[in-house]
Amino acid sequence: MILIDGNKISNEIKNELAAETFEFVKNFDRKPHLAAILVGNDGASETYVGHKVKSCEQVGFFSTLIRLENNCSESELLQKIEKINNDPEVDGLIVQLPLPSHISEQKVIETINPAKDVDGFHPVNVGRMVIGLPSYIPATPFGILELIKRYEIQTDGKHCVVLGRSNIVGKPISILMSRKSYPGNCTVTLCHSRTVDLPDVLRQADILIVALGNPEFVKANMVKENAVVIDVGITRVKSDKTKSGWKLLGDVKFEEVAEKCSFITPVPGGVGPMTIVSLLRNTLFAARKEIY
Ligand code: GUN
Repeated sequence: MILIDGNKISNEIKNELAAETFEFVKNFDRKPHLAAILVGNDGASETYVGHKVKSCEQVGFFSTLIRLENNCSESELLQKIEKINNDPEVDGLIVQLPLPSHISEQKVIETINPAKDVDGFHPVNVGRMVIGLPSYIPATPFGILELIKRYEIQTDGKHCVVLGRSNIVGKPISILMSRKSYPGNCTVTLCHSRTVDLPDVLRQADILIVALGNPEFVKANMVKENAVVIDVGITRVKSDKTKSGWKLLGDVKFEEVAEKCSFITPVPGGVGPMTIVSLLRNTLFAARKEIY
C-alpha cells in the first residue's frame, strides 16, 4: 500500500508556484492578486480564509481580505463583488461559503466575473468544464487530479466510483474522471444516499473517491482488493485520546481499508492540503490570463 502524501505534494507545488510567481513578477512588475470576501465570523470559515491568505504570502501573491458583517445585505455584498469584478488590479475573487441564510449563494456565485472565479463555481466555468473547454476547476477536484498525476496512478479504462454528489466535489470529479485525457478515461459511477446496494457498487471500484461527510462510513468490506482510495471527508469528532479533545476523521475507516488498497489518502494530510494550492494555481492562471 502506498500512502498518498498530500502535505509533501502540496509543499512541492507551493515551491513550483513560488518560482513561477517570481517569473511573473519579473515579467509584469506586479504580483498575482487574490481577493477573498468573508461574511460574518464563522469559526471554520475564518480558519479557511486565514490559511488561504497566508498561503498567498508564502508563494509571493498579493491578497486582500474583505470582511462584511453577518447582517450585511445581499445587495451590499453584490456591489462589493461588482467593484472587484471591475478592478483591473485583482486577478481572482472568492466569496467564502457558507453565507448567512438571508443571502442567496447562487446569486452571489453568478455575480462573480467568470474570468475571476478562481473557485470555479460559476455556471459558465462549470459548463466549460463539462464540455472540455479551458475553465477554472474547483479546488478539491483539481487537487485530487494532481495527486493522481503525481503518483502516476493509471486511470485509463478503470472503473471510478464517486460517492457523494455535491456541486463542489462529487459532481465535478465524476465529470473530470470521465474526460478523454489523463487523468480520466474512466468509466464513472456516481453514487449517493439513494443508491441501491451501495456496498456492491463500491466494491466494483478500481478507483474510489469518497466525498460524503460521514466519518468512517466506508469499511474494508466495501472496497475491492488493490483499489485506489481517495478520501475527501474531514469531520471533527470528540476524542478522549487527544490533548485538544478533538480529532479529524475521513469518510473511510482508514486502518482496515489501508490494508487492502494499492494507494490511499490519509485524513488529515491527504486531499485537504491540496485544495489551497489548487486555488493558488487557479489564481496564477487568472493573472496570466491563461483561461480567458
Ligand atoms: N467553503 C468550503 N469550501 C469552499 C471553497 O472551496 N470555496 C469557497 N469559496 N468556500 C468554501
